[in-house]
Amino acid sequence: MKTSRLVAVCVSAVTFVCVAAAAPPQLVKQGTTQSLIVDGKPFLILGGELGNSSASSTAYMADHWARLKAMQLNTVIAPVYWELIEPTEGKFDWTSVDDLLRGARAHDLKLVVLWFGAWKNSMSTYVPAWVKRDAQRFPRAQLVDGVSVEILSAHAPVTRDADARAFAALMAHLADMDAREQTVLMVQVENEIGMLPIAHDHSAIANKLFAGPVPPELLRALAARGARLEPELAQLWRKHGAKTSGTWAQVFGADESGEEVFTAWHYARFAEALVQAGKKKYALPMYANVALNRPNKKPDEYPSGGPLPHLLDVWKAGAPSFDFLAPDIYFPNFSDLTARYRRDDNVLFIPEANNAGAVEAPANAFFAIGELDALGFGPFSIESIDTDPQNSLSRGYAVLAQLTPLIVANRGSPQMSGFRPRVLFDGTVIDTPQTMRVAGYEITVGFLDPWTTKDKQVIASHGGLIIRDGDDFWIAGQGMVVTFRGVEGSAPLVGLEVVEEGEFDAQGKWVAGRRLNGDQTHQGRHVRLAPGQFQIQRVRLYRYR
Ligand code: DGJ
Repeated sequence: MKTSRLVAVCVSAVTFVCVAAAAPPQLVKQGTTQSLIVDGKPFLILGGELGNSSASSTAYMADHWARLKAMQLNTVIAPVYWELIEPTEGKFDWTSVDDLLRGARAHDLKLVVLWFGAWKNSMSTYVPAWVKRDAQRFPRAQLVDGVSVEILSAHAPVTRDADARAFAALMAHLADMDAREQTVLMVQVENEIGMLPIAHDHSAIANKLFAGPVPPELLRALAARGARLEPELAQLWRKHGAKTSGTWAQVFGADESGEEVFTAWHYARFAEALVQAGKKKYALPMYANVALNRPNKKPDEYPSGGPLPHLLDVWKAGAPSFDFLAPDIYFPNFSDLTARYRRDDNVLFIPEANNAGAVEAPANAFFAIGELDALGFGPFSIESIDTDPQNSLSRGYAVLAQLTPLIVANRGSPQMSGFRPRVLFDGTVIDTPQTMRVAGYEITVGFLDPWTTKDKQVIASHGGLIIRDGDDFWIAGQGMVVTFRGVEGSAPLVGLEVVEEGEFDAQGKWVAGRRLNGDQTHQGRHVRLAPGQFQIQRVRLYRYR
């Protein structure tokens, strides 16, 4: 039994949180954020999400596992399909799940499991045939003219209960099969929930509910957020008089924006039922992911009502049992979008991002982990690049893996910062240098490499992180020029005492390579991490006057 290994482990130098090693994977508070504790130790997810259909075939996955491991991943984000595990109502077939566990374990990989249940990218294509074929029992959402769409209505308790039963069965199975090994770290509930091409279901029951009152618990929860309420929702609420009671149309408006708040609430309530049912069987961390909306589009023009930035407070109120809400980021404005999911009540995790081979993927990982304390990162369709284990994501992950002990010790603390150029939605790259203040220093990171490219798209792939660790600064990434200034203390001038490149070995010991000086530091003027090559440098400074 695991209890023989019951050892209390303290994970943080910031707030000393101790967790029993035998406990299932869980999130614990650390500084201003939360950390994932697995087998009693903090864990950083260096992940990638499989293409949608890959996990349905053991034969298809057979060659991929070893390649994913060779790519420096420690976690594979993989779907589990309702249609495969419950082909006949009440009769479960665990073959696909057990094969997934077996494949991951055989390659020393962890899993984040995605529940492809009632909804997958708005639609309901992954539900079993006995659900698909019984629209009487499992009603579809309807357009304004009463025509059904292939989206299960969120307003049918029978659908919610069937989905929750299957999900609870999955969690019970994982508890049986995996509580000891802890291969599965976290679970995503549904996939990119959202209503399209309307902002709310127009079935009779949905229309009736929309004409009824806004639940007081939602309005109380929004009021409790005060000035921290997401600005778009605060504005919508104010625009309609900031009422503390009334129908949906009275409180949030009769147009698609008001309808979307209604949709978000009901999706959140539905998902909450699954999370509660699942956690009763096995209390792993659970989250919902979202397809983000393009700017200036109306709610019926994008999948509406998911845990979008402007609806986070609605989801937090409607589905409080979720551990966090997570953005899938396929748009270029990565830093702005991720920042919205790093809240006082939400830890950041990016389960999906631009296809794994995208040049900016590794810099995004460094930024999210270093600056926003992300639990991890997972570009989509990861197996599409696994025939090239030297791809840039893998080279970035190799560096992040070496730095993991330092990263997990400094999560949620000002000793660690992440850097990457800000990119706007339209692709404009803003390469203005960024700063970090720590230990009496102002550290400035520029992204324009003095000796190489001026191509803005390449510059968008530059970035990294800095961790202050006693007298040392660990600077990691690519395409960064770093300078230092004293902002406190009596000796304002700062020089480079030691700059060296190197690697942490398998035991975590620093093995120094070249001592960098002369041209490599521009005669002591800066620290430079060249573009196109993720690396770590140890820097020690001194002060003079
Ligand atoms: C986002 C979805 O969540 C994924 O399952 C997949 O469909 C990708 N989009 C495709 O880009």
